[in-house]
Amino acid sequence: MKRVWVNDFGPPEALRIVDAPEPRPGPGNVVIAIETVGLGYADVAARRGESYLASSPGFVPGYEIAGTVIKVGDDVDDAWRDRRVFAVLRKGGGCAERLELPAEELIALPDGISCEDAVAAGLNALVAQGAIARLPITGGTRVLVRGAGGGIGLMCVQYAALCGGTVVASASSKDRGDRLLTLGAASIWNRLDGDLDAPTGFDVIVDTIVGPDLPGFFDRLGTNGHYLFCGGVGGLPPADYGMKLIEHFHGSPTLHAFSLNSATPEHVAAEAAILFDHIAAGRISPVIDSVLPMADIVAAHRKLDKGQAFGKVILRPDGTP
Ligand SMILES: NC(=O)c1ccc[n+]([C@@H]2O[C@H](COP(=O)([O-])OP(=O)(O)OC[C@H]3O[C@@H](n4cnc5c(N)ncnc54)[C@H](OP(=O)(O)O)[C@@H]3O)[C@@H](O)[C@H]2O)c1
Repeated sequence: MKRVWVNDFGPPEALRIVDAPEPRPGPGNVVIAIETVGLGYADVAARRGESYLASSPGFVPGYEIAGTVIKVGDDVDDAWRDRRVFAVLRKGGGCAERLELPAEELIALPDGISCEDAVAAGLNALVAQGAIARLPITGGTRVLVRGAGGGIGLMCVQYAALCGGTVVASASSKDRGDRLLTLGAASIWNRLDGDLDAPTGFDVIVDTIVGPDLPGFFDRLGTNGHYLFCGGVGGLPPADYGMKLIEHFHGSPTLHAFSLNSATPEHVAAEAAILFDHIAAGRISPVIDSVLPMADIVAAHRKLDKGQAFGKVILRPDGTP
């Protein structure tokens, strides 16, 4: 079977498609024929060597998949055979035609949720769902989503709007802004327009960026506001950012963080069930940028590297055993 291999950290061209032995399920495991792989910032960071997900080269990227169980190992309930499933892969391995996985990591896909929709919402929606659930957003709460044009950000916009929040979405182009308006944003702040008209006084700020501009965003939080970190596309904040936070002491800010890595597999499965209900009811929309065959893995990563995607870039291994 074929799979993508990162032999050396580097640019998209460092990715190779290689042959690999056919997986056979060990005890407690299954083999999945992968139909769709959701690609995102996690793949880019791992390929560049900038992620704790892959500390050394020599790995298969791909951190969320959907497909069908085709083989079950000893001690695995035979009912999993032929089931359509979704899985979050903390160790990667998803960019492959087939994958061996512990049965305890499987999340059954309900009828009506396609493999494309599962990974299009997938990780990004689960992060947003967990993040927004930590925040006191009700009717009229003023919410800023920083990085709203990104995969997690556009899901945070949808969840915050679902809770009744009045959402300002930061994005870098009119086209992205227009699309975020259709996903529930009340208004758009083009982050490249400079700071002069930057909105302020938010009850809640959800931040997927951090980076050197972080202290300026503490200034935009209103009294008794809540600030949540769930990503770091912009890199580390300045070393003295804590001083800025202390200056806001009298505004009684509350800081939150949310990472899916703190959730157990059981919790992820329970959250996924809620997500699939939201999708089936039309409350949350999976957003797909493009669907590409696995042979186009380099083009897919180039697109992600340039920040050109709006929504999920989906890879289809489509290998028949
Ligand atoms: N919490 C978790 O469990 C979890 C799980 C997976 C990933 N993550 C992390 O979450 C972060 C976001 O992931 P993602 O997949 O949403 O990323 P993404 O799709 O690449 O989106 C990031 C967006 O941020 C904006 N942006 C890029 N560089 C920026 C900069 N320097 N300053 C301000 N805005 C910038 C861009 O939109 P515009 O140009 O339109 O503004 C871009 O589309 C990453 O750090 C990722 O590692 C967290």
